[in-house]
Amino acid sequence: VEDQTCRKPVTLDDLRSLARAAIDPVVWEYIDCGAGDGRTQRANEEHLDRIGIVPRCLRGASAPAHAMAALGHTFRYPVGISPTAFQRLVHDDGEIATAQAAAAAGVPMIVSAMSSVALEDIAQAAPEASLWLQTYLFKDRATTAELVARAERAGYAAVVVTLGCPVPGRRDRLIRGCFQLPDDVRAANFGRRDRVDFNNPIHSVDVELDAAATWRDLAWLRGVTRLPLVGKGVIDPRDVAPALEAGLSAIMVSNHGGRQLDGTIATIAALPAVVDAAAGRLPVFVDSGFRRGTDVLKALALGATGVFLGRPVLWALAAGGRDGVADALTMLGAELRVAMQLAGCASLSELGPGVLTA
Ligand SMILES: Cc1cc2nc3c(=O)[nH]c(=O)nc-3n(C[C@H](O)[C@H](O)[C@H](O)COP(=O)(O)O)c2cc1C
Repeated sequence: VEDQTCRKPVTLDDLRSLARAAIDPVVWEYIDCGAGDGRTQRANEEHLDRIGIVPRCLRGASAPAHAMAALGHTFRYPVGISPTAFQRLVHDDGEIATAQAAAAAGVPMIVSAMSSVALEDIAQAAPEASLWLQTYLFKDRATTAELVARAERAGYAAVVVTLGCPVPGRRDRLIRGCFQLPDDVRAANFGRRDRVDFNNPIHSVDVELDAAATWRDLAWLRGVTRLPLVGKGVIDPRDVAPALEAGLSAIMVSNHGGRQLDGTIATIAALPAVVDAAAGRLPVFVDSGFRRGTDVLKALALGATGVFLGRPVLWALAAGGRDGVADALTMLGAELRVAMQLAGCASLSELGPGVLTA
């Protein structure tokens, strides 16, 4: 009899292997690819690996406090789910499974504008979840305003605006792979369109990104909703002041998992200067390349309020649906907890740059 316990996924990377075996290779390319040569995608993880942890002894860390307070809510872990488009590509339940898992794990989920289940249906199927809607600044302002108004009506807790994507990045692996959206998966928040240029999922709904957008346009968005606004994609600390001026409630340091500008620095390298510029005036989240509880600990030590996950959630969804995602989030939370204990940190507030090597 085969020992099944050996097959149980123990890490997020185990889920990556399971997902790769389960997913259509063309869809795998869509999920796994980065822009260009994938330099930024690799740099995200490599830079995290280069940072060391310097543990302290005998610090009374029997019950590390790891809750995250952000945007008026308290979450179980300083962790959340980044927006990823078209989740029904990897599991029939798609975003509904992810939202229910986020609720079970007590963490927020950012729903992509390009979700494959309508944003209202996700909210209805996961009433306990803290859902934040991601949007772009579309050329057609009415499209943007309408999407945000729908999120507000459906009980979403925040709006996340993707910055740093005035045009879609060039994903060479996707161009080679000739990916097309299957007939039964579509951008459910928009009307049906026929052709999809998959290097540019935005084209799938015939709405265009506004490459001419400036901070003034963000101030416009601030004026059309009561929800807190989060800016996703800040890398340069000089972008913090205009973000504050435009009325953002939080920012996320993100290079979008290396899918936009190849050659962009790793987010963990960008984080400290952005945290400095924010100077406690707004929470700073981070994503791109986080795979381990120790990675989360490093980001928190450098001043992040919380760490978000993109691809690992899709791996877990492909491998095990709702329970798979809930287990993955709990797994990462458990890793963080043990990492805090072994590093001698009884609470998140004890995590500072002193815990890390330079
Ligand atoms: C398949 C896929 C689809 C994505 N779709 C979106 C999206 O619709 N909007 C967005 O802002 N970011 C999108 N992203 C970027 C993620 O929000 C996130 O920044 C990135 O995946 C984090 O890096 P990680 O995958 O290394 O965790 C997508 C990423 C992937 C892998």
